[in-house]
Amino acid sequence: MARNPVQVLSQYTEDFGDTFRFYLGGLKEAIVTTNPAVIQHVLKTNAENYQKSEIQVKRMGHFLGKGLLTTHGEAWRTQRRLIQKGFDRKQLEALSAIMQDSLAESLRDFDKQIQGGPVDIYPHLMKMTFAMVARSLFGARLKDEDIDLVSHTISTVQEFIVKQTIQPYLNPWFEVSGELRRHEAMRARADSILMEYIKQRRGQEPGHDLLQTLMDARYADGEGMSDELVLSESMQLLVAGHETSSNSLSWILYLLSSRPDCLERVRQEFDSALGDAPLSHGALGRLEYTTQVIQEALRLYPPFWMIDRMAVADDRIGEIAIPRGSMVIVYVYGAHHAPRYWPDTESFDPERFTKTNAQQQAPFTYLPFGGGPRGCIGGNYAMLQILMILSDLLRKYDFQLVPGQTIEARPMVILRPKHGIRMTFTQTTARDHHAVMQQ
Ligand code: HEM
Repeated sequence: MARNPVQVLSQYTEDFGDTFRFYLGGLKEAIVTTNPAVIQHVLKTNAENYQKSEIQVKRMGHFLGKGLLTTHGEAWRTQRRLIQKGFDRKQLEALSAIMQDSLAESLRDFDKQIQGGPVDIYPHLMKMTFAMVARSLFGARLKDEDIDLVSHTISTVQEFIVKQTIQPYLNPWFEVSGELRRHEAMRARADSILMEYIKQRRGQEPGHDLLQTLMDARYADGEGMSDELVLSESMQLLVAGHETSSNSLSWILYLLSSRPDCLERVRQEFDSALGDAPLSHGALGRLEYTTQVIQEALRLYPPFWMIDRMAVADDRIGEIAIPRGSMVIVYVYGAHHAPRYWPDTESFDPERFTKTNAQQQAPFTYLPFGGGPRGCIGGNYAMLQILMILSDLLRKYDFQLVPGQTIEARPMVILRPKHGIRMTFTQTTARDHHAVMQQ
């Protein structure tokens, strides 16, 4: 189970049906479900009764303080309402320019790296997407070395939290050995760097970034957030947006590398929708097929392969009793691979997401961004980011999967490529080919 929970849970789903009880570590009762009615009940209809699990709130809260990811109830609702403004249509349009500039800079670096032969795309895409998220938050002037330090801190602390969670008996040792303190010190260093940007901004002209949204937000009584709260909310957004889009992008490139037919259609769509222009928020509606490709990749490889909650009070969903304190695991990967809802489930087929087909899909069978009030706040931002990076990479490069590698998904906090994905990139000839075809 610890080594490959996806394999085990998928087998159990096949053996015991779409909702079954399971004893985590032989002790704690968990209910695992891929049943859309149960999922809808837990994430939406009776969401008040299902809080984020203790692991998320306690362990993450220790390092991340209070914020969207680690609070619930009224405190969460108020913050969510304020922060949501940072991701509305107008704000995404404003962020596009910062995102494009950040991408152009990352691509200069990427261009150098690929000259040396095949690369593992995962760390490169992660660097690209994280720099974009970090600059969308703290503005274009955020320094490279600060981005690297914060990114490294987030990865290291996240790994430590996973260790604390799956080996809780080691926690006393982590304290004695100084490992806990070492991670706290790392976090404090990242905090102090970001706090410097917050303090500076208080005395500067307003920016067009998410930091400004957080600083301008006002509660009902007219008060704004303290610097400490702005910092912990920013850090939580950085954590939530750290590895998710890069992960999806890695799988998208992997899937496209074996489907020249889809790749050709995507390229044609970029050509006709954008020509040589950079992608802006306004062009999204013209990228229907590419959006379908992304949606299908998110179905096959949902970065959040499960969503966990804890029942606050006893509850019942039809025949299923849910005692107070039990965990409910919404098994997203299982729902996305259920043959009942997705015929020929393992095949990559973007046609599943044409407007007509998507309308026929039963609700709560497709949940890459979660569902209900606690669904992803950054979903539209992530789609913009993925499209932006894809549009540049595919117009610039041809790419091939290096043969002979084992590509496997590893379900840790998120579903990532276990051994990386190695690819060769060369300047594309596809566009010259289009030009000749069109003449
Ligand atoms: C492909 C990319 C992404 C995927 C698949 C994704 C997926 C998700 C999912 C499934 C949840 C719900 C978790 C739960 O219910 O326990 C979530 C929550 C969240 N996501 Fe994303 N996410 C992505 C990108 C981003 C980005 C780029 C940001 C920020 C810049 C972000 C910010 C958040 C935040 C703050 C929450 C917590 C919301 C709350 O509890 O109110 N996400 N995301």
